[in-house]
Amino acid sequence: MTDQPHIASETAEHPRRLAVLVSGNGSNLQALIDSWPHQSSCQHRGQLAALERAQQAGIPQHVIDHTVFSDRAAFDTQLSETLLAHRIDLIVLAGFMRILTDHFISTWQGRIVNVHPSLLPEYRGLHTHQRVLADGKTQHGCSVHWVVPELDAGPLIAQARLPILPNDTPASLQNRVQDLEHKLYPFAIAWVLNQAELPYNTSVNSESIAAPLGCLEAETLQQAWQNWQETGRVLPHATS
Ligand code: GRF
Repeated sequence: MTDQPHIASETAEHPRRLAVLVSGNGSNLQALIDSWPHQSSCQHRGQLAALERAQQAGIPQHVIDHTVFSDRAAFDTQLSETLLAHRIDLIVLAGFMRILTDHFISTWQGRIVNVHPSLLPEYRGLHTHQRVLADGKTQHGCSVHWVVPELDAGPLIAQARLPILPNDTPASLQNRVQDLEHKLYPFAIAWVLNQAELPYNTSVNSESIAAPLGCLEAETLQQAWQNWQETGRVLPHATS
């Protein structure tokens, strides 16, 4: 896999196959399901856990219980084998709370995407909403990026931003940022899947490459998402 830095070209015989790795709530998984409604029969909304969402959408699920493995490497080997067995082209991390080994990420590098609740490279790691508020920032948002072994440091694909309001709390910011994620992540993944070849190079990092889809204001993101839903075209709408 290390010599395959891009996903397979899509053909009629081989539509690209996604694996979404989830740990908990799965609202981003739900947003993905809802963004491709013709490919699922999911109708249910509300406070479901990720696996229930997948089940209701008729998406095959695979649970790997990490407690039965002696260490992280053994778990990741099983995960890799499962992904290969399902001929997965692109791994989508959606609230997957388990740390993946460097070996796993290097093996799949160029085939793993993540959504992170901050405007990377600022605020890698956890508790981003609390941290931006504590720092008195005026803007916040989310980023979709390629995953590399260094945490939250992979090349950007797209970002979306919003202004921080005077009465924002960590909870209100989390809600507003997640609303952005639910449009940005499916949109960015659709863009990735549309690429014949991915412009990925393992030597770049997030400081040295601009997100090809730019950093979108909420309104621009909504327009771009709507346009994609209506036309099937995913166009860059760079605003910065
Ligand atoms: C998202 O907010 C994302 O930014 C972070 O984990 C959260 C997962 O939420 N990586 P959900 O499980 O998709 O609702």
